[in-house]
Amino acid sequence: MTSNDDGANNNGPLLTPYKMGKFRLSHRVVLAPLTRQRSYGNVPQPHAILYYQQRTTEGGLLISEATGVSDTAQGYKDTPGIWTKEQVEAWKPIVDGVHAKGGTFFCQIWHVGRVSNSTFQPNGQAPISSTDKPVQSKHVDKFTPLPPRRLETDEIPFIVNDFRVAARNAIEAGFDGVEIHGAHGYLIDQFLKDHVNDRTDIYGASLENRCRFAVEIIQAVVDEIGADKVGIRLSPFANYSGAVDSNPEALGLYMANALNNFGVLYCHVVVPRMVKNGENFETPSHIGLMRSAFKGTIIVAGGYSREDGDYAVSSGYADLVAYGRLFLSNPDLPRRFEIDATLNKYNSETFYTPDPVIGYTDYPFLPSDV
Ligand SMILES: Cc1cc2nc3c(=O)[nH]c(=O)nc-3n(C[C@H](O)[C@H](O)[C@H](O)COP(=O)(O)O)c2cc1C
Repeated sequence: MTSNDDGANNNGPLLTPYKMGKFRLSHRVVLAPLTRQRSYGNVPQPHAILYYQQRTTEGGLLISEATGVSDTAQGYKDTPGIWTKEQVEAWKPIVDGVHAKGGTFFCQIWHVGRVSNSTFQPNGQAPISSTDKPVQSKHVDKFTPLPPRRLETDEIPFIVNDFRVAARNAIEAGFDGVEIHGAHGYLIDQFLKDHVNDRTDIYGASLENRCRFAVEIIQAVVDEIGADKVGIRLSPFANYSGAVDSNPEALGLYMANALNNFGVLYCHVVVPRMVKNGENFETPSHIGLMRSAFKGTIIVAGGYSREDGDYAVSSGYADLVAYGRLFLSNPDLPRRFEIDATLNKYNSETFYTPDPVIGYTDYPFLPSDV
């Protein structure tokens, strides 16, 4: 990033360097995981090389779109996977493209659980979950939820193992690490949250039991690839797909302490922030307990502007800030933040359309002389 003639840094807190474990980041503007549904037949496609490369900076951190760990993990058309050899091979040139430009690239590994229906499942079977209650949310009515099938206690180690294998595959594909998707009402969150998890075995009821599945996945992934390559995304405060918890602060704190036990590299928290009368009100107190407890890097995400991100870093409640929609529509977002340039507007109509160019790699860069 640029400096004044006298060598002083010109930039706000977001554009200062940060050392995350062994990764030396040159700035704190992270590409948030963004599902784009352009991986036909669950296989990453060559057009993703350009897409991710466009959003790569020397020393920048990118998190991939959510990537399925197994053939039961899908709930949306054309999302990528990382459980077959073909998928691993298909990721390699995409990861190479990011590395060629000096980026650090983590793969978000994912299982949707009950946010699916039988058309996405092998042999048309029911989706699996912590529960047999279907999703009750107007936001997911497109899934026409069939009742999910509650996993038997003795099946759970196999799902944990799917995450382990996916992490191994991600490293084989060249990724620098993985982000376990524990957020947004998907399978792990279906175990964590007490409004969904109605189990009576060792994976249900108490906070410790509800967190057991997540903790076993973290342990398996850490054992497989090393804690220095493992992050997790959590959204204790959110209620996507009906995944509500009656005590999100306690849940976040329990998980923060569990992550410490394994020396996990980062915790990526989707932060609830009130928006009222066009103004953003920061509510960092929500993650205060997690922040103070967790010894690794905290990434936050959720409706951040540049100013909000600068505040998150300068006030000390986050180390890095992930940008979703703004990074989707501004491939050169860190540069735009650096010079306070106007931002391209995103078009939500093309977030999930299958076109390999439109709404994907055709958002304009700043002219090179700016
Ligand atoms: C098109 C789109 C796809 C998304 N896909 C994912 C995903 O694959 N995994 C995930 O954890 N979050 C996903 N999210 C959530 C974003 O990572 C991010 O948390 C959210 O957009 C809020 O950040 P923003 O206000 O900067 O966009 C998605 C969001 C959008 C808009």
